[in-house]
Amino acid sequence: MPLIEWTEELVVGVPAIDEAHHEFVDLLNALPEASDAEFCSLFARLAAHSRDHFAEEERMMERTSFPVIAVHKAEHERVLAELEQVQQQLEQGDFGAARAYVKDQLSAWFILHRNTMDYVTAAHIQRTLG
Ligand SMILES: [Fe+2]
Ligand SMILES: [Fe+2]
Repeated sequence: MPLIEWTEELVVGVPAIDEAHHEFVDLLNALPEASDAEFCSLFARLAAHSRDHFAEEERMMERTSFPVIAVHKAEHERVLAELEQVQQQLEQGDFGAARAYVKDQLSAWFILHRNTMDYVTAAHIQRTLG
């Protein structure tokens, strides 16, 4: 069972965001099955991917003058700090904490973030850019 199943229900309607989300889900789903060594490099890819994906959303919010950009951006920054913290745990060999974070927190966070901030942002982008 994947942590998150990619379905049409996850689509927000802005191709750049949907492509990034699909890639996020693929990386996330690969983590539970990965060996410890693979887990480290996959998690690093997920963190790098998230930095790019969040930056892209922020550029689109700026371009379309999204009114609550600061709130959405602050949430991205909070999660990036969390990902960095988990990377430090991995460097110390704490795979248990990192695996629990991916399974218990990051997947639920993604769904919640998609259903709230990303959903509202995508609707705004579509309204503004047509
Ligand atoms: Fe997103
Ligand atoms: Fe976002």
